[in-house]
Amino acid sequence: MKLFSLIFFSTVIVSCTTSTYDDIEVLQDDNQTGLVSFQDVAFIFENNCTACHSNPPQNGAPMSLTNYSEVKNAVETRGLIDRVSRNEGEQGLMPLGGPRLPQQQINLIIKWSQDGLLEN
Ligand code: HEC
Repeated sequence: MKLFSLIFFSTVIVSCTTSTYDDIEVLQDDNQTGLVSFQDVAFIFENNCTACHSNPPQNGAPMSLTNYSEVKNAVETRGLIDRVSRNEGEQGLMPLGGPRLPQQQINLIIKWSQDGLLEN
């Protein structure tokens, strides 16, 4: 019985550890280079921004965020990182009307920028 418990709990611990590790890997580095590229962050814009920043833009949004060059341009010239980093409830926070993106996703966009706004 003791042995059974030991094996059972070891299995639980190992599988929890493994799945957590895998989730982090997938979120941060799809292509295994150690660098964040557009393909790692594209889902964030698809899920949270393109309702308004579509092509053509809707609801008064001033530009599209539907592909690599549009998003890269918005980071470089339209303060995209500043906008997503503002506090909950602060004016100008994107996505407009909130809620603020999860901090982990904001960090991923920042790392994408630090890594040089790579496409792939
Ligand atoms: C509900 C509609 C809506 C959503 C969703 C939305 N935006 Fe916006 N966005 C706007 C509007 C309207 C403006 C113009 C008003 C302003 O600048 O605050 C804007 C402005 C911006 C600007 C400033 C553009 C400039 O030239 O000054 C950036 C950057 C931006 N949005 C990024 C994003 C990002 C990134 C997301 C997703 C995380 C997002 N937005 C989601 C409506 C939206």
